[in-house]
Amino acid sequence: MKSISDLAVGGRVVLLRADLNVPLDGAVITDDGRIRASMPTITDLAGRGARVLICAHLGRPRGEDFASRAAAGPSLRPVAERLGQLLGRPVPLAADVAGESARRLAGSLADGEVGLLENVRFEPAETARDDAERGRLAAALAGLVGLYVGDGFGALHRRHASVYDVPALLPHAAGHLVEAELAVLRRLTLSPARPYVVVLGGAKVSDKIGVVASLLRTADRILIGGGMAFTFLAARGLGVGRSMVEAEMIGEVAEVLARAEREGKRIVLPVDVAAAGSFAPDADWEVVPVEQFPPDRMGLDIGPRTGQLFAAELADAGTVFWNGPMGVFEFPAFAEGTRAVARAISGAAGFTVVGGGDSAAAVRALGFPEDSFGHISTGGGASLEYLEGKTLPGLEALGDGR
Ligand code: 3PG
Repeated sequence: MKSISDLAVGGRVVLLRADLNVPLDGAVITDDGRIRASMPTITDLAGRGARVLICAHLGRPRGEDFASRAAAGPSLRPVAERLGQLLGRPVPLAADVAGESARRLAGSLADGEVGLLENVRFEPAETARDDAERGRLAAALAGLVGLYVGDGFGALHRRHASVYDVPALLPHAAGHLVEAELAVLRRLTLSPARPYVVVLGGAKVSDKIGVVASLLRTADRILIGGGMAFTFLAARGLGVGRSMVEAEMIGEVAEVLARAEREGKRIVLPVDVAAAGSFAPDADWEVVPVEQFPPDRMGLDIGPRTGQLFAAELADAGTVFWNGPMGVFEFPAFAEGTRAVARAISGAAGFTVVGGGDSAAAVRALGFPEDSFGHISTGGGASLEYLEGKTLPGLEALGDGR
């Protein structure tokens, strides 16, 4: 895989695919971690005299065509403004992705200047399954520039036009963020200091069962919390009331639990949970042991004994990988489990990695200093697919065959 450092970029228009998919409250960015993580590549390119044209997605816009999606949003306007603040000069935003406005923007950039294309997912072709449809958008994007830098780590697992098809049409290289994220993932995969403890949470088992199965090979212990824990508890034969359960996954989860037992690997499940009367920030709740789950309640967080148990399992870790909150941390009453795990990981002596998405946002929202973790990844889904051993289309396109 070619590095950005090997690319002669001075005076060239460079299409930089970044992952600037930040959480928004209306038009307000609630966590700018992904924008800040993209800055080393942007400033390096601009500092070397490149004309930097950034391409990124935001959310999952719906609608039949560009016009209806652009009308409904979300626009990358707040991201352009934040980029401008971080760079100390305005970042112009094209009104389209690969049309007249994009061409004008690309043609107007001087050496060292930075511009942003509008949300690439306003173009339905970006995510199309049909190769030819994606190919047409890719050709239009490639026509705007002379070089391509892939730095959107969080989107590398997507076979999308701007991630997968454009690099095939242009001289290309990986950016600094992709290089840094890959170095961490290789360390986790090839040479983790032991014991290697993985903490998984979040809502859906179906998203994570594959990674649990592959991590059984490399990790020493897997601690499971969040909504997904209830399908594991159900697979152990426990009642979980009205908690979220993916009934169709119970069989597969039971097989993974049996395999862990056969192979002497430990999958550690919650021993108590916060059981609430409803899914609401002000719901009434009580802590119950998992063996006595009330049938009319739903679990919204791990309980305090589980927090202590997980902290004890993390205390001697040589390596930690954490993905997914332990409960509905957006509701303060149900953030304690996530806080307990974040505290334990931030205090662990080993190499600690927070694996992207919600867990990265959670540690920042709960006020943990970023430097108390070894690495906070910008890509949840991308990290998980890499650890699962899958081929990431965006990495393949950049020439990393794994
Ligand atoms: C993410 O938020 O994980 C990445 O930006 C990819 O977004 P997506 O899941 O909408 O493809």
